[in-house]
Amino acid sequence: MARVLTGIQSTNIPHLGNILGAMLPAIKMSNEKENEALLFIADLHSLTTVKDPVFLRNSAYAVAAAWIALGFDTEKNILFRQSDVTEVCELTWYLSCFTPFPMLANAHGFKDKSETLGDVTAGLFTYPVLMAADILLYDTNFVPVGKDQLQHLEMTRDIARSFNHRMGETLVIPDAKINEETMLVPGTDGRKMSKSYNNFINIFLPEKELKKQIAGIVTDAKPLEEPKDPETCNVFAIYKIVANEEQVIKMKASYLAGNYGYGHAKAALTEVILERFSVARKKYTELMSDFSLLDKELKKGEDKARKIALPVLSRVREKTGFKP
Ligand code: ADP
Ligand code: TRP
Repeated sequence: MARVLTGIQSTNIPHLGNILGAMLPAIKMSNEKENEALLFIADLHSLTTVKDPVFLRNSAYAVAAAWIALGFDTEKNILFRQSDVTEVCELTWYLSCFTPFPMLANAHGFKDKSETLGDVTAGLFTYPVLMAADILLYDTNFVPVGKDQLQHLEMTRDIARSFNHRMGETLVIPDAKINEETMLVPGTDGRKMSKSYNNFINIFLPEKELKKQIAGIVTDAKPLEEPKDPETCNVFAIYKIVANEEQVIKMKASYLAGNYGYGHAKAALTEVILERFSVARKKYTELMSDFSLLDKELKKGEDKARKIALPVLSRVREKTGFKP
């Protein structure tokens, strides 16, 4: 049995890019018989950027609700909130004493963020050590992540190797699992869909607001009658990822034929999103209207996660000279 683990920060409600690029592929992997998957909400990591407690807390619920609504099986697998298993903070400390300072200073995640963020904190600096602890605390074999996280994974492996080298074989060395064909979902302005660009589509919005978001997709000003090029259109770029083959062929033909406006394309995109995510939307709204079910799910996940974490932590304590 392979142990698969990945985390997603709770910095907002997951958008279409997060869902198609990261969440659905992870759920697919978690359904495979030979895998046991731990998916967690990286709320401690979110604190490096989010300083509003209500927003932080609600975003953690939103991410949990999205995982469940999209079909993550919490009986077979484990869904938990990072901050509930506080053992990860203890492991972070041990690991930080095996992490070379220059490695953190040269991390590009830190360099990028320290240039753009107002408050550059020690938390931002040690972010990769907490991430290493997330992974190593559960004897993880595979970590499905986007390319942007590859350096963090390399650091995790280096930290684990450094610990094992000094203290003897203790930690499992994980492998990154990069899905090469993971599509890059474009946002409403054609750039990569991202919270930071505010160009995202939130599929969990009520229909009216979802329509408004989709209406905001940037297009050129070609009149209705004129034939249009689907390959340069932001609406088509998103539609092509969400719709099925037949629907895509049909829309392409309409673009080329003319007498088909961007309003039509946006209506078709709305319809396909509403249809494809109808079950998830309903489930998400249910879960977010009463947190008690999510609390139960998260407690169940916390208990299961801790059961895996404690023996690992005990190994580390023993090797470092602390009470196992
Ligand atoms: P954001 O850019 O909105 O802040 P995150 O960095 O929190 O998103 O990404 C969480 C996960 O979602 C990562 O695994 C990332 O690779 C994936 N992801 C984010 N945006 C996209 C996108 N536009 N297309 C595909 N995957 C994405
Ligand atoms: N840093 C990851 C991101 O921003 C989130 C994350 C935190 C993570 N801990 C992790 C991902 C452990 C994989 C494994 O997307």
